[in-house]
Amino acid sequence: MADNELKKEIEKRRTFAIISHPDAGKTTLTEKFLLYGGAINTAGSVKGKANSKYAVSDWMEIEKERGISVTSSVLQFNYKDYCINILDTPGHQDFSEDTYRTLMAADSAVMVIDASKGVEAQTIKLFKVCVMRHIPIFTFINKMDREAKDSFELLDDIESVLGIRTCPVNWPIGSGKRFKGIYDREAKTVRTFQAVSTGGSKSAAETDYSIQDPALKELATEELYNQLLEEIELLDGASDPLDLELVQKGELSPVFFGSALTTFGVETFLNYFLKMTTPPLPRMSNEGEIDPLAAPFSGFVFKIQANMNKAHRDRIAFLRICSGRFEADKEVYHVQSKRRLKLSQPQQIMAQDRQVISQAYAGDVIGVFDPGIFSIGDTITMPGQKFEYEGIPTFAPEHFCRIVQLNSMKRKQFVKGITQIAQEGAIQIFQEYSAGMSEIIVGVVGVLQFDVLKYRLENEYGCEIRLESLPYEYIRWIKDPSTDAAKLRRMNNVKAVRDMKGNPLLLFVNEWMIRMVLEDNEGLELLEFRKN
Ligand code: G4P
Repeated sequence: MADNELKKEIEKRRTFAIISHPDAGKTTLTEKFLLYGGAINTAGSVKGKANSKYAVSDWMEIEKERGISVTSSVLQFNYKDYCINILDTPGHQDFSEDTYRTLMAADSAVMVIDASKGVEAQTIKLFKVCVMRHIPIFTFINKMDREAKDSFELLDDIESVLGIRTCPVNWPIGSGKRFKGIYDREAKTVRTFQAVSTGGSKSAAETDYSIQDPALKELATEELYNQLLEEIELLDGASDPLDLELVQKGELSPVFFGSALTTFGVETFLNYFLKMTTPPLPRMSNEGEIDPLAAPFSGFVFKIQANMNKAHRDRIAFLRICSGRFEADKEVYHVQSKRRLKLSQPQQIMAQDRQVISQAYAGDVIGVFDPGIFSIGDTITMPGQKFEYEGIPTFAPEHFCRIVQLNSMKRKQFVKGITQIAQEGAIQIFQEYSAGMSEIIVGVVGVLQFDVLKYRLENEYGCEIRLESLPYEYIRWIKDPSTDAAKLRRMNNVKAVRDMKGNPLLLFVNEWMIRMVLEDNEGLELLEFRKN
């Protein structure tokens, strides 16, 4: 039986990721959440900005040079009775496989959409991973203070492009210069919008009016007020009811409108979101579901990050705790290596700094020193427990280069370096079907990883390399590993390779080629993710 304190701690946890296309407002929204939680005092301090005085991680020169954050971090803060963990998913050029993996550690996702643009490419990719996991997805349609697309069109866009049902929890009155406020469908009240930018302060003064209040008609203008009434009627008649069970299964997304920059609609969103999401739920293992409250401490590694401290070449493994309470001084069990160990230097990676911690709970993410034994997806439990959490899939890279080593004398160093970096999961390496280690192809999800690879091979392993860009953009695992790729038909312009585990894969230049190869090779099955 879980003790009361443990139960209380776990039940107040909400662990989620924010996904969006670059520039939709993820950073701004995160900042506003942190402001509500009192975790930061000024906006502009989260990450990603070249001049940010609190850049979360500047552990690599390459990050400093570019003013971006290559690695993702976790922000923890308290708000009301909740303990919130926001898993930051790197976007922009630093988009990488880690961005996908972070979603494996989240219990739900907030999808930020730019109201003037609708669903954009990167959102689609991240969304697919959320769908694969069936986690709840909450939509925040941002930038309503700018000219927006029609709200119904935005919902249609989400439904048709992403294939998820939507249920607006609130509804905007106008947009851009004519943005007047937001109607709360449950409370039947309108919160009016004040057209002031609040900069770093908490929020603009907000006033709520009942929908029947005559003052509202004047404030919103008669035209927009009447339009609102019509739209409410339409929504009440046609939109999906807010079925929380469907939300939990990731089949229905509650939709909110707002403007993160002016902090309008953010608090409403946060409050509804926290009410509708759950604390950590049981996770699947090879021995069935593991209950976060009943089971002793357990978790899995979802990310490994090297050389955070330049003076020591250390690696930090990021662990999502899935059950129980982690206590720093207790021995734990690493299932894959069958070793008992103490996790040294457990830290919580916060907005501004890293804090060594003595305990943490299911729902939390901690960084622990990796003595070189952890791999992505590994399970850590208490001695006596031997179950393994479901593995983290390998996601398909989208950019490929051939690596040419410039100094062949350092072959051993090169192979060691590239193997270690691939183990951390920053890159994937592939070999030509027959050429063995003589021809190495590297695949990445985000192109920045090529620079990181080059930089690290030079600086950590003393190996100079040249990267030759390859035209492939799509990779698919062949489902049946015994398939002889050399015998497949229609293989002109398609490259057959193997991954580090010897699995056969095909590289394609476009999606059309994938369809051609599938058509011409009956029975061939290709996979976009590979379950480990
Ligand atoms: P991201 O993390 O998703 O990439 O987006 P980010 O929050 O950095 O926002 C991208 C740009 O959009 C920023 O402007 C930001 O100020 C602006 N923005 C975010 N939310 C809103 C909103 O609700 N309304 C309006 N009008 N703008 C919004 P920037 O000029 O690119 O950066 P900055 O110099 O202002 O930081």
